[in-house]
This record gives sequence, C-alpha cells and structure tokens, in this order.
Amino acid sequence: MKIAVFVSGGGTNLQAIIDQIKDGSLTNVEIALVIASNDKAYALERASQNNIPSVVMSVKSFESREAWDDAVLAKLNESGAELIVLAGYLSLLGEKTVKAFNNRIINIHPALIPSFCGKGMYGIRPHEAALERGVKVSGATVHIVNENYDEGPILLQKCVDVLPDDTPEVLQKRIMKECEQVILPKAIQLFADGKIKVVNNRVEYN
Ligand code: GAR
Repeated sequence: MKIAVFVSGGGTNLQAIIDQIKDGSLTNVEIALVIASNDKAYALERASQNNIPSVVMSVKSFESREAWDDAVLAKLNESGAELIVLAGYLSLLGEKTVKAFNNRIINIHPALIPSFCGKGMYGIRPHEAALERGVKVSGATVHIVNENYDEGPILLQKCVDVLPDDTPEVLQKRIMKECEQVILPKAIQLFADGKIKVVNNRVEYN
C-alpha cells in the first residue's frame, strides 16, 4: 500500500515509519510521497536521506486555499497514495482532499483524545495543559481525520504515567518515543492489512 506522509516539523514520526519499513516490522507499505507545509521542516531532510520523493506545499504560496487544495489532491493522485498519514502536520487539510480520501486519512495527536485536543492544541501545548491539569496518565491517539480538528473516529491510543518531576518537554519526549512512534506505524499496518472499518463514527477491526 502506498502512503503519503504530511509533515511540518522534525519528522520523528516519519522516521519511525521509515525505520519500521526498513527493519521489516511494517510490511506491504511504501512511502510514495512526503508533503511538507514549510521548507524548514527537518522531516524533508529525512525524506531525502531515504530517497523518498518530497514536496513543499504551503497554503501561503497559492492564490487561494481552494487552489492549494486542488494542487495537493493532484499531487496525491499522481503519487498513487491510498492512505494519507498526518505525522506532525500542523495545518488543516483542504475540503476536497478530505472528501476524496474519506476514512483514509489518519493523524497522530500527542494526548489522549478527547482530552487536550482541538484547535491550537499542537506540539508542546497538550503537554503543558496535561501538566497544568494534573493528570496522572497521558499519551497519544491515532484517529481518522474528518473536517474538524481531532474529532474523527479513534483508531489506537497508548498511555504513559505522568511522573512528579515531568516538564512539558520531558513528557513530550516520553510520549513521542513510547506512544506515538509505536501506535502510528501500527495504525498504518492495520490499514495495509485491510483491518479497519468505520461504523457509526467508530472504528471496528475486521
Ligand atoms: C508530534 O508530537 C505530533 O504528535 C504532534 O507534533 C509532533 C511532531 O513531531 N502533532 C500535533 O500536535 C498535531 N495536533 P515530529 O515532526 O517529530 O513527528
């Protein structure tokens, strides 16, 4: 199964997918294309080091959001991607793209949805909010993307303990390593194996 991975930053989740394809723990999956929202994303470097085609498509460089959406969709179709993976992608996809890839877009979120999610909750912020609220566990969620931030059906979640001395940065690092980089490749494998079915806005496994 060909996938397209959307990125905005460091690309540690992209790296986890690349590594698991390489070591054979993620099977029947090929990264056909990496799309970045900005040209500073270190994820682009990771793609090029691994000979994966990549392109920068920032909304700002198009005359309208619609024109950007059309161009993204054309690139995706050209790549043959069957699944879109948002791996630290900090923009909202265009309406046409979301429609065209109905139930075939997944996102990794650095908290246990429905906690600490929605507009503005990205990067370090969910971890700051989790510590402020005093939760004793936090984690990550892979969910299917619909037109609203972080509201689509939940696919996989994994949690870790929040420790007394945690700072947002320390908690973020633990969640990336022990949760995100584990469940995102796992979710892609479930798709590649044809095991995902969405019924009444919930995910069922075949
Ligand atoms: C990850 O922690 C991911 O969960 C988060 O951005 C980071 C990207 O890291 N995504 C969101 O906050 C989306 N709402 P990466 O570029 O190293 O994979």
